[in-house]
Amino acid sequence: MSQTKVNDELQIQAVSHSLVRSAIAGIGVSLPSKVVTNRELEKLVDTSDEWIETRTGIRERRIAEPNMTTSDLCFEAATKSLADAKLTPQDLDLIIVCTVTPDTPVPATACILQDRLGAKQAAAFDLNGGCTGFMYGLATASQFVSTGKFKNVLVIGADLLSRITNWQDRGTCILFGDGAGAVIVSPSKDQAYGLLDFHLRADGSGAPLLKVEAGGAKLPASVITAEKRQHFLQMEGRQVFKFAVHAILDGVNTLLKRNELTVDDIDCFVFHQANLRILENAAKQLKIPSEKIISNVQKYGNTSSASVPIALEEARREKKFKKGSYVILVGFGAGLTWASALLRW
Ligand code: UT7
Repeated sequence: MSQTKVNDELQIQAVSHSLVRSAIAGIGVSLPSKVVTNRELEKLVDTSDEWIETRTGIRERRIAEPNMTTSDLCFEAATKSLADAKLTPQDLDLIIVCTVTPDTPVPATACILQDRLGAKQAAAFDLNGGCTGFMYGLATASQFVSTGKFKNVLVIGADLLSRITNWQDRGTCILFGDGAGAVIVSPSKDQAYGLLDFHLRADGSGAPLLKVEAGGAKLPASVITAEKRQHFLQMEGRQVFKFAVHAILDGVNTLLKRNELTVDDIDCFVFHQANLRILENAAKQLKIPSEKIISNVQKYGNTSSASVPIALEEARREKKFKKGSYVILVGFGAGLTWASALLRW
């Protein structure tokens, strides 16, 4: 090895030794109370309860009332996660709201939340990573905590996809639901526990597969864009399905290999809840027993960036993992983006 390489290696070792291990210190969830069943959607589009359940596993989803905003769900989830972590809003250094449905394009929903919480010391920004947003946010928070720059970071995955759903398109409107899930990322009390590794990827060549065409700089809102229904989500379902399975396989296999673990070592897998068939397909290929896979898509549909933290909270409540358990989280979605995290609870 050259002297430069040796120096680089020593420097990397020195930096990694000075890093603090980050961990999830609290979780909180917010779901609208209004339940919309498949049968109700039969009245809107040419579909059936049987088709939706067979093809997606979804039976019902939560839809926000018209006066509810993304920041409302964020506020409830944030408040619960702070209580869970035994912290107050004043303890927060940073707030990251991961969303594709902010209250308004400007300012960031994270700033609206920061004010409402009274988190006077916290910086705040939004992050658009599609349904992967929460995973990107979790990785970002972990870096700030690991370097010692920040102590407590609030990360929220929150989306009201119902607001950008084309309720005339049976290919998409049956899939989505509203919700928010929040976590607090703080220094781990023990270096052996917490957020151990991340794998983050993007493939922008797949951007056309999952998109909202109008409302940005390329195609600003106009009467024409509204008439053409270009402010709603469009998706190439079959292609996104294939990508989703690939994303889970890559997310899981990369972390297992890099950390010299096998599927047997992992107690719980929390994947983005887009479609039960995606979960089953990936589980089969990875040879993961079904009891280790969290699935609540039946109750909530695809809640975008909120789905991983909502499922994680449910898994904790149902004691699917305990202290010392290894857990793998995977998100995937628009961009295309995908990301996974390995944590030891
Ligand atoms: O969070 C981001 C990630 N998103 C995803 O991961 C979603 C991935 N994609 C999917 O979950 C599935 O592709 C869908 C659930 C969206 C669609 O299921 P599919 O089994 O891939 O159906 P398909 O698109 O291949 O369509 C099969 C048939 C079509 O009819 P023809 O052409 O065979 O006559 C569709 O028009 O099913 C029809 N169809 C429906 N029929 C009844 C599509 N949507 C519906 C519907 N009800 N809601």
